[in-house]
Amino acid sequence: MGAATDRGRVVTGPSGAEGPGAPANDPGAPDRRGAGHATQPGPTKAAVILPHERGPRSEANVTRAAEARLAEAVGLTASIGLTIVHTGIHPLRAQRPSTLLGEGQVGMVKEAVERNGVTVVVVDAALSPVQQRNLERAWGCKVIDRTGLILEIFGERARTKEGALQVELAHLDYQRTRLVRSWTHLERQRGGFGFLGGPGESQIELDRRLITDRIVRLKKELEQVRRTRGLHRKARERVPYPVVALVGYTNAGKSTLFNALTGAGVYAQDQLFATLDPTMRAIRLPSGRTVILSDTVGFISELPTQLVEAFRATLEEVANAEIILHVRDAAHPDTSAQRADVIGVLTEMAEGADAALDAGWEDRAVEVLNKADLLGGVEEVAKSPGAVAVSALTGDGLDRLRALLDERLAAGLETKAYVLAPSDGAAIAWLHEHGEVLSREDGEEAVRITVRLTPANRARFEQRQA
Ligand code: GTP
Repeated sequence: MGAATDRGRVVTGPSGAEGPGAPANDPGAPDRRGAGHATQPGPTKAAVILPHERGPRSEANVTRAAEARLAEAVGLTASIGLTIVHTGIHPLRAQRPSTLLGEGQVGMVKEAVERNGVTVVVVDAALSPVQQRNLERAWGCKVIDRTGLILEIFGERARTKEGALQVELAHLDYQRTRLVRSWTHLERQRGGFGFLGGPGESQIELDRRLITDRIVRLKKELEQVRRTRGLHRKARERVPYPVVALVGYTNAGKSTLFNALTGAGVYAQDQLFATLDPTMRAIRLPSGRTVILSDTVGFISELPTQLVEAFRATLEEVANAEIILHVRDAAHPDTSAQRADVIGVLTEMAEGADAALDAGWEDRAVEVLNKADLLGGVEEVAKSPGAVAVSALTGDGLDRLRALLDERLAAGLETKAYVLAPSDGAAIAWLHEHGEVLSREDGEEAVRITVRLTPANRARFEQRQA
């Protein structure tokens, strides 16, 4: 757990120049995700800039879309531990090849950078290497674009070996084309923000050669990992508890729900899994059944195409899940489009010969309509069958969600009756631990237990008793 670090914060500076739509994060909320900045001296101040192309839609729609987009970029920036002190939307009239933004706009941002002590500007657009370099010079600080930002997030969240390799590959590929040395997690690990002025040309050349070598090695390693992927999955299947995976759009409230369901305390079962990382926790459902709750990286709108593979690799977790909880921000204006996006990606993952997801995944999915408090409460939210409305923030509806998880898991269970020797305390305890004991009769000669078990646990128990 990254208890020593908190997530990035959004603070409102005195300038009054902050853009609209910045979501208010709660810095006091318990958070399992460390942003990896324990060694940073003080917060890193960032500005988030949205260069916005005007579409054919009405002015009001354009403004709303831009604000939603800016809010998403602010949320993403905060999630890598940066403190946002300035935001701005800049309509693009003509795209300048040298800086993307117009001259006057570059000047406005420079003024905000200096006034607020900004050291990183996030430009929510795809910048060419030349544009990135020119903007860094103009503003006298580090600039990262949307692809760079998303790579940072994936880098922090990738969990499977394959995911981590895939993300690193995408990162290096991106970095290789940059004239400036990219601001990467590596750079942060090295001790921070010594990037002003940038590396010399010979350093860049050297970096480029190292990067090319590393890419070659990574590709080989990735191939190796893919070949053994089946083996890894088998190992995961031995986890004795069902896995419930959370998927959903960024900002839908996955972390908040994860924290609400797991509570503050560490459940004893967590210690059973040496490999259990902070995005996985064991929880007990009302039936007494233990499940592993597992978070995944959030979906992001308009994902740069070169990152699609890397993103999917971070989603591998859902392949092993007994239940896929699709967390939705029911109050978001684009909630339907976001839903379609998530379902589209999962459907694609289930297609093809080497599909990471089995074809029947829909039957394992449960929709969680979150942020019901913003819509007048859980009763007011229109639900389709199999969906449940909650507010992760207030806790409303969580009991219903826990009960639904129990119902879903019970549906796949087998009921078995066993007669055991009273001296076989270990077997009796095992059944209580792994199953749902429906009845138990303790006699002198025998203990009769009727229990509901997952098919995997039934097989495991019978093998153990054989
Ligand atoms: P990523 O980490 O980017 O994938 O986002 P996430 O899905 O984990 O979202 P997170 O839990 O960080 O929540 C995003 C924002 O929504 C935060 O500001 C939360 O406080 C807020 N939020 C989460 N759940 C609720 C809810 O039920 N009601 C309201 N009003 N806000 C919520």
